[in-house]
Amino acid sequence: MEADVVVSEDASELAREAAQRFSNLAIDAARSRGRFSVALSGGSTPVALYGLLAKEPYRGQIPWSDIHVFWGDERCVPPHDRGSNYGLAQKVLLSRVPVPSDNIHRIQGELEPSAAARLYDAALQGFFCGPKIRFDLVLLGLGTDGHTAALFPGSPGLEGTERLVEAVAADYDDRPARRVTLTLPAVNSAREVLFLVSGGNKAGIVRAVLEGSDPHLPAQRVQPTAGRLTWLLDAAAARGLTGGEAGRPKAERP
Ligand code: 6PG
Repeated sequence: MEADVVVSEDASELAREAAQRFSNLAIDAARSRGRFSVALSGGSTPVALYGLLAKEPYRGQIPWSDIHVFWGDERCVPPHDRGSNYGLAQKVLLSRVPVPSDNIHRIQGELEPSAAARLYDAALQGFFCGPKIRFDLVLLGLGTDGHTAALFPGSPGLEGTERLVEAVAADYDDRPARRVTLTLPAVNSAREVLFLVSGGNKAGIVRAVLEGSDPHLPAQRVQPTAGRLTWLLDAAAARGLTGGEAGRPKAERP
């Protein structure tokens, strides 16, 4: 599966590029299907995007009443904990836009991981009327070990699962260990998957994922079955790429 790779000059331009795509996808989905379902990413990279969406011109463009917000993963902490992906999105975006509270489908991180996973799976199946879910958009970040969402090398949700949601209770990386995550099948069924990656510290893993062949990197396994995959990078994160076009800033493109 070919991925589009779009390189922006810096993190600000990356956020603008992502905001315009989010807005376009939301408008198109609302117009053609009456709703837009998006799974937000956690971590720090998307914060600039969320802040832009809460301001004009994007705030006024986006049909917030038709938006349904989910998460790609959540840390098992209470919603107002500083580690909560829901809490972060609520603070910088959702509290500032008129999305109906019933349209916010958070993962209940305050519960035991397995209980939170069960409830989130039920919420997904309720929203999509069965196990064949299809998000309009899944936003993803990339960890320096190649993880995405809470799909870490060797974690459940990677290998041969039919489940939509997995509880992750092992120590991984330096992040809070107990997590709930969408599985690869749940991500790969999306219409659009958008990776947002910024910073020179990600250049090595970006190259490994986009140009290497290590099947153990979870981010490499994100291959939408009938959707589009786009990597939005800033120049620092893209600087290790050698694949011609992909490694050049958007501004230089013909
Ligand atoms: C999380 C995310 C995780 C994140 C990457 C990148 O809950 O932390 O789901 O997958 O996207 O670790 O994080 P940064 O954007 O902070 O580098």
